[in-house]
Amino acid sequence: MKITVIGAGNVGATCANVLAHKNFAKQIVLVDIKEGLAEGKALDIWQTSPVNMYDTRVIGVTNDYSATTGSEIVIITSGIPRKPGMSRDDLIGTNAKIVKEVTENAVKHSPDAIILVVSNPLDVMTYCAYLTSKKDSTKVFGMAGILDTARFRAFLADALNTSPRDIQTLLLGGHGDTMVPLPRYTTVSGIPVTELLDKDTIDKIVARTRMGGGEIVKLMGTSAWYAPGAAVAQMVESILFDQHRILPVCVKLDGEFGLSDVFLGVPVKLGKNGIEEIVEIDLNQEEKKLLYNSADAVKSVMKVMDDMNLF
Ligand code: NAI
Ligand code: 2OP
Repeated sequence: MKITVIGAGNVGATCANVLAHKNFAKQIVLVDIKEGLAEGKALDIWQTSPVNMYDTRVIGVTNDYSATTGSEIVIITSGIPRKPGMSRDDLIGTNAKIVKEVTENAVKHSPDAIILVVSNPLDVMTYCAYLTSKKDSTKVFGMAGILDTARFRAFLADALNTSPRDIQTLLLGGHGDTMVPLPRYTTVSGIPVTELLDKDTIDKIVARTRMGGGEIVKLMGTSAWYAPGAAVAQMVESILFDQHRILPVCVKLDGEFGLSDVFLGVPVKLGKNGIEEIVEIDLNQEEKKLLYNSADAVKSVMKVMDDMNLF
């Protein structure tokens, strides 16, 4: 089992580190364009193996895609993160070119790989990798929903003074301020959250979740990496072990939820073939309105990329 992580920055290196600790891959290849960075981070991670008792060999390379040959999963984290005052969409001019270039290189050496996109703006970079790779959309998808629901669950756990493990929730839409956390589909050990918290508290947590990425950017001057890295690893685990977990994932919609030709976060079954199924759920009028608004926001950024004439 071989996994490639492109981009050895904060998210890529964290992701490689979490995956290595889980000990389910034979090899993880970290790739970066910056001379020596991936090699150094990979060496540092590999040197935790005797202490943390795992065998996964982590290697790093500078732009040498031959080392990635035959990867089952390629994770794309290369690109610039946002700085305070920037939205994820401000990154598109730089990141679309990077995502296109690295996807071309990765697919050349691992034509059968599943491509998991992390770079922002997430939904549109997934679209970019999809167009570049020319793969079926079940094999090219993006990570954001696990991170966003993790934030939602963590905030709820604080408010309820309970374990985040007992909180199940769902969130739809683009990875941006229009995302749609769904309190109606949120439970705490089976108890609807609406029975445990008043509307005002839930509304505040929903609003904080929507701005969860920005809250961290404001604090640190750059975006998050621990929770994103862990979230990617959860998706990889579900794919490698064919777990068929139902997780929120950014995928191409072809009529599901009444939406087409848009990449958006929805619940899917994730297994060895990638997206095994898109799980459609009933939405009320208000939830539909929010989802369609989020789809429109993503479509407008997809158009910005289309207008770059990269394809
Ligand atoms: P970072 O700046 O720490 O790392 C990015 C790395 O990409 C750098 O090491 C850079 O040298 C490398 N890179 C740039 N061009 C490259 C190329 N052509 N080939 C190979 N490597 C290249 O940034 P960080 O914090 O790791 O974030 C990475 C991306 O992930 C950003 O776009 C960020 O917005 C996004 N992100 C997405 C999340 C999500 O939920 N989907 C969560 C957190 C970050
Ligand atoms: C986040 O939500 C910036 O997308 C990144 O933390």
